Amino acid sequence: MDIVLFGPPGAGKGTQAAAVCAAANVPHVATGDIFRKNLKEGTALGQLARGYMDRGELVPDQLVCDLVADRLSQADALGGALLDGFPRTVVQAELLERWLTAHGRRIDVVLNLVVPDEVLVRRLSGRRTCRACGASYHVDHNPPRTAGVCDACGAAEVVQRDDDREETVLARLQTYHRETAAVLPWLRARVAVTDVDGTLPIGVVQDLVHSALG
Ligand code: AP5
Repeated sequence: MDIVLFGPPGAGKGTQAAAVCAAANVPHVATGDIFRKNLKEGTALGQLARGYMDRGELVPDQLVCDLVADRLSQADALGGALLDGFPRTVVQAELLERWLTAHGRRIDVVLNLVVPDEVLVRRLSGRRTCRACGASYHVDHNPPRTAGVCDACGAAEVVQRDDDREETVLARLQTYHRETAAVLPWLRARVAVTDVDGTLPIGVVQDLVHSALG
């Protein structure tokens, strides 16, 4: 099953991803995580992505699509994947559709987390992320049990992401409205999209997402 987890920056995609993957038995394919891993490892891809990420802009379509196609071809993703943060432009959506069709697959489910901008700004500025495994926390409503230490993997690497500084958050939201929001009507024209109120408590959102998976 190929699932698209859609929503603006800070909507809760990363927070819900593990539960969705467990329920659908598919791997988590998050383009932002792939870029951050490459950045941490100092690869050429990471260096290239850094400028775009720091400015709150999108990494060029063809680069992202090649990366995703490569990831979806790996053994653990042959039965499907959870796509988080992709597609983010109509061009990416079209290339994804073409790739899936060529491989006898399709977008089976779209989950759209709906959260207004003012909530997103508060969430992102209070977000803390584990540099080791990518788990997501919030200083007020979802802190790790021990400050700075990840509940999921135990690493003492829970920090603020560079692109969660306020000016970059605002740029990311502008990019979302300018380039990514248009993907939603494109998806609605092809797949049944389930809208989920992402402002509800994390556990309630998880239950709604579970029911949408059937
Ligand atoms: P990416 O890593 O994909 O970032 P994003 O989409 O901006 O999403 P986030 O990870 O910021 O938010 P999220 O929805 O996962 O929220 P989270 O669960 O953490 O992309 C980063 C960059 O990489 C992009 O800007 C771009 O440059 C590049 N990139 C990536 N993909 C690309 C692509 N396809 N094309 C081109 N470029 C690409 O939650 C946020 C906070 O809210 C947390 O603190 C969490 O604890 C809290 N929270 C979550 N749910 C709730 C809730 N229900 N109630 C209260 N708090 C909640």
